[in-house]
Amino acid sequence: MRGSLPISRRSVFKWRQVAIGTLGSAKIMFLILGCLALTILAVANRNRTGSSSLMGWTGDVDRSYSPRGRYSIVMNTWKRYDLLKKSISHYVSCPKLDSIHIVWSEPDPPSDSLKRYLNHVVRLNSRKDQQVELVFDINKEDSLNNRFKEIKDLRTDAVFSIDDDIIFPCSSVEFAFTVWQSAPDTMVGYVPRMHWVDRKKGNGKYKYGGWWSVWWTGSYSMVLSKIAFFHKKYLKLYTDEMPASIKEYITKNRNCEDIAMSFLVANATSTPPIWVKGKIFEMGSTGISSIGGHSERRTECVNKFVGEFKRMPLVPTNMKAIDGRDSWFW
Ligand SMILES: *[C@@H]1O[C@H](CO)[C@@H](O)[C@H](O)[C@H]1NC(C)=O
Repeated sequence: MRGSLPISRRSVFKWRQVAIGTLGSAKIMFLILGCLALTILAVANRNRTGSSSLMGWTGDVDRSYSPRGRYSIVMNTWKRYDLLKKSISHYVSCPKLDSIHIVWSEPDPPSDSLKRYLNHVVRLNSRKDQQVELVFDINKEDSLNNRFKEIKDLRTDAVFSIDDDIIFPCSSVEFAFTVWQSAPDTMVGYVPRMHWVDRKKGNGKYKYGGWWSVWWTGSYSMVLSKIAFFHKKYLKLYTDEMPASIKEYITKNRNCEDIAMSFLVANATSTPPIWVKGKIFEMGSTGISSIGGHSERRTECVNKFVGEFKRMPLVPTNMKAIDGRDSWFW
């Protein structure tokens, strides 16, 4: 009997240990479940408001009061007033927008009713903390080079170059803008394109790579200026330094001003552009890319410009910038 007591004590002790053990793991389970629930809640909530905070963390970065904290829209338009009205009413509500410059190249100046309408929309839709300035930049000559004319009194370093038929959520515009702020010498855009060495034609000949080839390979060397951020200094560079033969070619063929801009920036920086992930809504598909023979004409431009620059300045890359708030799987 005497000997049995320690044993039973030991077993009681053991049982207690096991009990504590299971209780402990149950607690841990609760803890893990709790964390999981909180995480799911936080992630679900995170993007809803854009600025919800858990423990005071928010995903938003506000730099709107620094010198590079705002941007200007430079919008190319051509006789599509309903599209122009739609896109201006949309963009004017985007935060950090300073001014909108409409590049006007039509023979007739904008009508009074159009001006009145747009000014009204801008007044109405501007956010309270910012009155957006609306400017028509009137050009006598009808040329695609107009969209890169130097703007003397531009108050921001950042230019957001865009066609009148593209609607793009403000949150995506803002994200591209923050990417540009991290690399202000670089072109930052949503529509990547590639130059491929043309193996059939041999030495120093290139082929223009459209969307499919970029999608297939993940490589690109240009972003198109129909929707891109770049520094305003490139407007001056384009106006002053772009070879006249290239400008004439662009005016005559009504094409490739965007490729020329990509060449110019790459030539000045020796670095590739940055492709930013985002959703685009194109309202009209009447642009030049829907005309037949488009990629042959673009290939011709690439080779012509290589001749003028006397080298291929474009730098390929595979990097793509994504919004950290939308990709929580690291
Ligand atoms: C290209 O870069 C070279 C070297 O920096 C420069 O001399 C030339 O003027 C640039 N070309 C253009 C068209 O800007």
